[in-house]
Amino acid sequence: NLFKSIGNRNAGINSIFRSLISSSPKHFTNEENKASKYTTFEDMTAIRRIEAQKSLLVQVNSEKSHKELCSYCSQFGKLRSSFYYNLSEDLNFILLEFDEISGCEEALRSSSFNEDHPAIPVISPFLWFKARDSSKPKSVDKNKEVPNLIHQEVKCLDENKLDEILTSAETIDDQILILHRLTQLNELGIRIRYLAGHQLEMALNGMFPKIQACLFGSSVNGFGKIGCDLDLILRLNDDCGDITGSRLIYHTKMSRLNGRSQTQRQMEVIGDLMHIFLPAINNVRKILNARVPIIKYNHECLDLDIDFSMSNMTGFYMSELLYLYGEIDERVRPLVFCLRKWASVVGLTNSSSPGRWITNFSLTVMVLFFLQNVKNPILPSMSVLTKSASPNDIRVTDDNINCTFLRDLNKLSFKIENTESLHHLLLQFFEFYSTFNFQQNGISLIEGRPIVKPDHSAIWITNPLEPLLNVSKNVSYEELEKLKLETRNAAWILESTIDKNKDPSSWGLMSLLRSKKRVVKPEMFFKSRIVDVTDLFKDDSIKDYDNISYKNTAIKS
Ligand code: CTP
Ligand code: MG
Repeated sequence: NLFKSIGNRNAGINSIFRSLISSSPKHFTNEENKASKYTTFEDMTAIRRIEAQKSLLVQVNSEKSHKELCSYCSQFGKLRSSFYYNLSEDLNFILLEFDEISGCEEALRSSSFNEDHPAIPVISPFLWFKARDSSKPKSVDKNKEVPNLIHQEVKCLDENKLDEILTSAETIDDQILILHRLTQLNELGIRIRYLAGHQLEMALNGMFPKIQACLFGSSVNGFGKIGCDLDLILRLNDDCGDITGSRLIYHTKMSRLNGRSQTQRQMEVIGDLMHIFLPAINNVRKILNARVPIIKYNHECLDLDIDFSMSNMTGFYMSELLYLYGEIDERVRPLVFCLRKWASVVGLTNSSSPGRWITNFSLTVMVLFFLQNVKNPILPSMSVLTKSASPNDIRVTDDNINCTFLRDLNKLSFKIENTESLHHLLLQFFEFYSTFNFQQNGISLIEGRPIVKPDHSAIWITNPLEPLLNVSKNVSYEELEKLKLETRNAAWILESTIDKNKDPSSWGLMSLLRSKKRVVKPEMFFKSRIVDVTDLFKDDSIKDYDNISYKNTAIKS
């Protein structure tokens, strides 16, 4: 509705902004205000996992099938919510959530398999609502409660619409908040991602009763935008070693392979299972020789690209850490969104392939570090979080990496006295990094201030959970120069376009985000960006190294 009314000027664009910017940044200077304000990452994850267990994704003819579908499904249990999206005219889906897990289980038990297509029956939360036999009467029970059908997008908002909305905003602060609200992963996006994890658990649960699909990365750390990829870790022995006191113990098979080869073999088998048997899973690619072996696939019903691994829980705890930093102050996420967008527009990041440039993850750490370094810090150093940890917060991964830090922010004693506007923080970010001494200093969330750079990498960003690693090891000197240049440019552009009245069609954020139309000399562009893929396989600063065809693509384009 928002976008329909944007087309209609009479709808009053100001009322749209008011609805988008319903709350101004809060400042936590008072202990009382803080009480029970935060949800821990674990609580959030637990709620989302249960939601997925109560949900089914049903392919329907059109959104008009909603009432009939709800009426049919309510025989299995009370319904709580329903979401609609389509991927094309013929691909319409309704995500249906039951009140209780039992309702969803009952619906699955009574579902049948398609007799017209000879296929091996496999259980999944992805179903199809068959058209009613026209000889039978319509079975919509008008007395049954039907949840409202919520329309949400699984694809990014059209750039021109976003452009139009941002241009009509009142202030740069409003622009930053609107950009965040309109591009952040929405409720449907979060739900379908947890459902993708649940599909794997459901499929493999009979054989692996302790299986758990742990979502991490931008899908859950609060910095994900609509349409972002899903990262997940499949754990076959989560919660292993629980003692029930039973005298009957399962026989199990000891693996003779070492940790890494074992993971590779297991992933190979599970990758094949997914490829051959699981519905809607397509284009399965195994990249098992990378530092962290991963499998990539595409989910047809969810329009999602998914990367899954079976080791390296540090990525998961890193997401928890980033989530917590995003929770501490309401300005953190809008600022990160704005800077991720800016970096992609000016070509500093490239989400489609890893290479010699900065990743969204490293950029996010840079923003957090900047917020630790503003005059009145907005974020605490990570050492404050580790010092405040209680015994409940102790986490050590299978490969012995200590991921202990405070999980419950209600117990954090850190006062935020900074009341700067988003606009000023954005400007200060550009100034901070255009003058940062990258040659001598490194960035570290642990200390929360510049450190002496431990090696000769172009940019050093300490991995906060594995301090000996540099998360930006892949970044080249050319890219660093580009970063410095672009931050300088951005500070200048932002300062010179504050006044909306001077150029109402291209002011504030728009002047920053429209700079993509600048011409970049092709030879300069490729010189710094063509990478030898064999180098990427050696690099441990980037997570996946799947772009074997990347070099060719870059040359061709
Ligand atoms: N990660 C990490 N160390 C790295 C790279 C990544 O711990 N050197 C973890 C982080 O938790 C990160 C997650 O892996 O969030 C997923 O990495 P990636 O997909 O590259 O980044 P996202 O944060 O998911 O961002 P994007 O939206 O670009 O996918
Ligand atoms: Mg990701």
